[in-house]
Amino acid sequence: MQTVLVTGAGGYIGSVLVPKLIEHGYQVRAIDRYFFGEDKLVPHKKLEVIKEDSRRLTPEHFQDVDYVIDLVAISNDPSGELFSEPTWQINYYSRAKTAQMAKQAGVKRYILPSSCSIYGFQDDVADETTSTNPLTVYARANEKAENDTLPLADENFVVTVMRQATVFGYSPRMRFDLAINGMTYGAYTNKTLPLMRDGSQYRPMLHVQDTTDVMALLLQAEPNKINGEIFNVGSAENTYQLGDLGKRVAKTVGELLGETIDIEWYGEPDHRSYQVSFEKIETTLGWKASRTAETGTREIVEKLKAGELDKTDQTLTLNWYQELTKWHRIIKDIERHGGILDIE
Ligand SMILES: NC(=O)c1ccc[n+]([C@@H]2O[C@H](COP(=O)([O-])OP(=O)(O)OC[C@H]3O[C@@H](n4cnc5c(N)ncnc54)[C@H](O)[C@@H]3O)[C@@H](O)[C@H]2O)c1
Repeated sequence: MQTVLVTGAGGYIGSVLVPKLIEHGYQVRAIDRYFFGEDKLVPHKKLEVIKEDSRRLTPEHFQDVDYVIDLVAISNDPSGELFSEPTWQINYYSRAKTAQMAKQAGVKRYILPSSCSIYGFQDDVADETTSTNPLTVYARANEKAENDTLPLADENFVVTVMRQATVFGYSPRMRFDLAINGMTYGAYTNKTLPLMRDGSQYRPMLHVQDTTDVMALLLQAEPNKINGEIFNVGSAENTYQLGDLGKRVAKTVGELLGETIDIEWYGEPDHRSYQVSFEKIETTLGWKASRTAETGTREIVEKLKAGELDKTDQTLTLNWYQELTKWHRIIKDIERHGGILDIE
């Protein structure tokens, strides 16, 4: 049996990826601090859960590992700005070190899930050869991680970078800080969908099931097609102008609820736009996204309706890290003899 080590395994993408890999027959070593809770992964005999920091991995973690999918990150721009030093350490240094340790341990493949945000805003459609323009700590750390890991590729160590579009759809570790998910929640709860002016901005999107399909595909793809390569992961069909996207989400939620959903425009017009070409992944791997914004919206509404999902601080990445760090300070300050009310 082949073993995949997944870092950030308890996250939004990880908690969809891990059961998929198990279904594909892999053994999974799931490493995470589990900041968003350990309950996001269902126990399974092929699942080994390790609660560890990605900055403290040792060669033992890589024993008997065939593949690494290095999802770990402080995963959005605002969190990266507020927690900039840990973001550098986790998103850049720890992933560069993980790739090196994986290579030394004889791991066969290493996949770096990066982001299309490293293109920044560009006038033209960006493909994998376009100069990058990372505008935030989060985007710059991704770029550095790419630059350090790609040169490790050789005939025994396949390295592939996925530059993912903004992800959407239901995951056990839900994120309502992602565009389509947040719009769906707003439309469902308030019957009003907040939309940033003027709505003509382009944004590439990608369903969480589609990006995890690509990760599974890269474990099997012919090495000569993917080794040392960067792939933009997304699709032309899921590249939306925000105004159109908002209307599509509002229409889908409206139909599911039998109500009219209004659009509420906010902010100064933001003309920053970016469009990305996804031709390379289609032509090289024959892969095409198979879900649309409507797929994601529908599944989220169904979960909300069933009472299986709600928007809590835990579903908003920045808020949750702020809460965790605040309570860490408070607890450290008042704890005595190993406890608060109960003491040792
Ligand atoms: N979600 C998106 O739209 C998107 C788009 C492009 C790229 N990405 C990239 O995909 C990856 C996964 O994103 P996500 O949306 O699942 O994010 P996420 O925040 O849901 O998951 C990240 C996971 O990493 C864990 N983690 C953070 N720091 C850690 C540390 N030091 N040690 C161990 N575990 C730690 C967290 O507990 C969390 O479970 C990230 O690298 C992200 O940058 C995501």
